[in-house]
Amino acid sequence: MARTVFVNGEYLPESEGKVSIFDRGFLFADGVYEVSAVVNGKLVDYPAHMERLGRSLAELRMDWPCTREALDAMHAELIRRNSLSEGIIYMQVTRGAADRAFNFPKDKVKPTLIAFTQPMKLVDNPNAITGVKVVTTPDLRWARRDIKTVMLLASVLGKQEAYEKGCHEAWMVEDGFVTEGTSSNAYIVKDGKLITRGLSNEILAGCTRRALFRLAKEEGVEIVERKFTVEEAYAADEACLTSASQFVMPIVEIDGHRIGGGQPGPVVRKLRELFLAEAGA
Ligand code: PDD
Repeated sequence: MARTVFVNGEYLPESEGKVSIFDRGFLFADGVYEVSAVVNGKLVDYPAHMERLGRSLAELRMDWPCTREALDAMHAELIRRNSLSEGIIYMQVTRGAADRAFNFPKDKVKPTLIAFTQPMKLVDNPNAITGVKVVTTPDLRWARRDIKTVMLLASVLGKQEAYEKGCHEAWMVEDGFVTEGTSSNAYIVKDGKLITRGLSNEILAGCTRRALFRLAKEEGVEIVERKFTVEEAYAADEACLTSASQFVMPIVEIDGHRIGGGQPGPVVRKLRELFLAEAGA
């Protein structure tokens, strides 16, 4: 059955969802997005995603495409119309369609808002049982990685490199330190402590990261927010990544170095379990 997608206020069969060739998202990647998980028909960490959307829009001096209530209704309606039990909702806002010029359109244009669902196995994801492999690659992105823009070419190339090397994710590296994954935040565990880079313009403030911090604190797992090197990562007891579409995903190999004997470790397994319970799995 074809999906029902949302385009500028209308619910349409996916084949009818269209935007202008002059859309600034298409021409300049002048847009932002959010990906929210759905488990048992319910959104996960949704308020955090909306908060981050507001921040991304403000940083790019873009208007909200509609009210927050209308966005909430759109998410609920997409779940309903697509009978989505488990998967993700992707939503994107761009500065709108206007004659091509780098500067913002002089006359006010309506932002473009689109959204669609993608069914996925998030809870019983087989990768979570085996753990996944990552490779490291130079971080080629711009200096405002805290904004969730659709300008994702460096991540596309990094992820493709990972797949071509038989890996699931690429960890991007700057000055010898891991920044984050191409579409996830990066963590190592050493002596029971969860180590991850602190928030700055250099990484995206993950909503799953935020939830994980809360769960780790409740569980008594110490969190250390600092940069870590690739060599430290090779020598870690455990490692993992987080994102709305992976939740807490154990990592068992980095650049061919086995982590934790090649098995998901106890700290990461426990944190994933807690996350799933909270997500209503
Ligand atoms: N990506 N870092 C980057 C670069 C990301 O693209 C993402 C999410 C994250 C994790 O953020 P969150 O926990 O809020 O999903 C970190 C989404 C899932 C994507 O682009 O598909």
